Amino acid sequence: MYPEKFQESIRKVEALRAENAALEPVRMTAKEKEELLAAYHPDYREHEFENLKIGPNAGDKVPHELADMLQAHPRIHEGDVDLENPAYDVDVLIIGAGGAGCAAAIEADEAGANVLMATKLRAGDANTMMAEGGIQAADKENDSPAQHFLDAYGGGHFAAKKELVYKLVTEAPGDIKWLNELGVEFDKEEDGAMVTTHGGGTSRKRMHACKDYSGAEIMRTLRDEVLNRRIPILEFTAAIEIIKDDKGAAAGAVLLNMETDELFVVRSKTVILATGGAGRMHYQGFPTSNHYGATADGLVLGYRAGAKLLYADTLQYHPTGAAYPTQIFGALVTEKVRSLGAKLVNCDGEVFVHPLETRDVESAAIIRETGERGKGIDTGNGQAVWLDSPMIDLKNGEGTIEKRIPAMYRMFLKRGIDMRKEPILVYPTLHYQNGGLDINTDCMTGVENLYAAGEVVGGVHGRNRLMGNSLLDVVVFGRDAGRAAGQHTKDVTVGTLTLAHTAEYDKQISEAGIDTDLVSPKLLPNYVRERNTLTGPEIQ
Ligand code: FUM
Repeated sequence: MYPEKFQESIRKVEALRAENAALEPVRMTAKEKEELLAAYHPDYREHEFENLKIGPNAGDKVPHELADMLQAHPRIHEGDVDLENPAYDVDVLIIGAGGAGCAAAIEADEAGANVLMATKLRAGDANTMMAEGGIQAADKENDSPAQHFLDAYGGGHFAAKKELVYKLVTEAPGDIKWLNELGVEFDKEEDGAMVTTHGGGTSRKRMHACKDYSGAEIMRTLRDEVLNRRIPILEFTAAIEIIKDDKGAAAGAVLLNMETDELFVVRSKTVILATGGAGRMHYQGFPTSNHYGATADGLVLGYRAGAKLLYADTLQYHPTGAAYPTQIFGALVTEKVRSLGAKLVNCDGEVFVHPLETRDVESAAIIRETGERGKGIDTGNGQAVWLDSPMIDLKNGEGTIEKRIPAMYRMFLKRGIDMRKEPILVYPTLHYQNGGLDINTDCMTGVENLYAAGEVVGGVHGRNRLMGNSLLDVVVFGRDAGRAAGQHTKDVTVGTLTLAHTAEYDKQISEAGIDTDLVSPKLLPNYVRERNTLTGPEIQ
């Protein structure tokens, strides 16, 4: 039940509900979308970005918050750790134990490599775990990987690396089968056929889901497989620097025990960065749907080691972050709510955008509606629009919400809002980094033997990702990276370990006139106290 201040607007939404549910909102033309994005999408606010002064992407535009971390001092230098006596000596070191990290570990293990995983929180504390709506794969008769390619490539504004999109869509059907056989409980019809739905920007129903906790179910399965294989995982252990060898190849990492502040060295023939995204950087002050550890660490580690970034200036703001009540501010309201029939309406109950435009367009439309058009609802914590969730049961029959999106239903009900009967308040939330480390089709970055997979990578989704292509990305490229890095270890002889690049980086900072006392990677968000200054009392 909402407070009195929302009631007048709710009555308007209710009055138009039946009419709105029957309405087929018009799609925007390409020109209309371009104009809308340029005027309202946060990626186009030039003052929120700056050009990097050092490193492989010097001259390129990135958000200020990311520039601060990419141009901060390393946390350690040569001499701070004993490089000659590593605590661990393995074939493949995987940094990150979310979806991509676990998928990589399984395949590297399958390739016969000796694998070690390290993660700064617990295995599975990752954006994969928090994904809700589903995973795309063109495995129905009316669909094809070619169709999936067109949707993903077009949805990303034709900017993705075609060879990566090709891998994404062609490996998708096989990877869904693999997940199914590993034990993922996908939603199925009585006859065993997969239930599939649309997402924003899809031309076919190819979203496979496990109700609205698809990511948790996939993460559970991948993590179980890692544990069953007895692949060692160092938890609460963050990577703070990539170690290179005297030939310039990646050859391990310096790890930090987050509980004891102890530093130790891992030597490895290959390294896979699977560190995920950056929502906790709160670019432009946005709330986020991301997990607590999403602080762009992989971008920093890779960049300082010499790996190039692609499209680090493009972020995804999920159009429907929860905007009320405060306890769930920024939490994800899955796109599946819209694909099941709920529409976005303004304070007067009017539909102002087609519910399944791509996310960037949808977010820009909400920002325009609540800003320039003055048709938002003041929640007391910012502006919002209504997502008219009761339309779902109206359209599909009673019980649909509880059956198809039980996590959403519970999240709101716990806070006194019954989304079967009352609309919910939403506003864009920082959800995904479209850009990241540039990789080749073997998932190797520009640094020899340094691989990357999952959200830390850029180029798979161009400048905007479609729903369900992220869970797919972590599985496809996680598996590919694990396979490639695992097999490649047979050809690698590690040279003498060095951290010389950290001193070189400090020199570049100084020569570029960058005046900073920040250190990176950030590791954790600074909600309580500053943890990443040179003088901070915590982790140095
Ligand atoms: O809306 C969602 O369920 C999010 C899915 C995704 O980011 O792929």
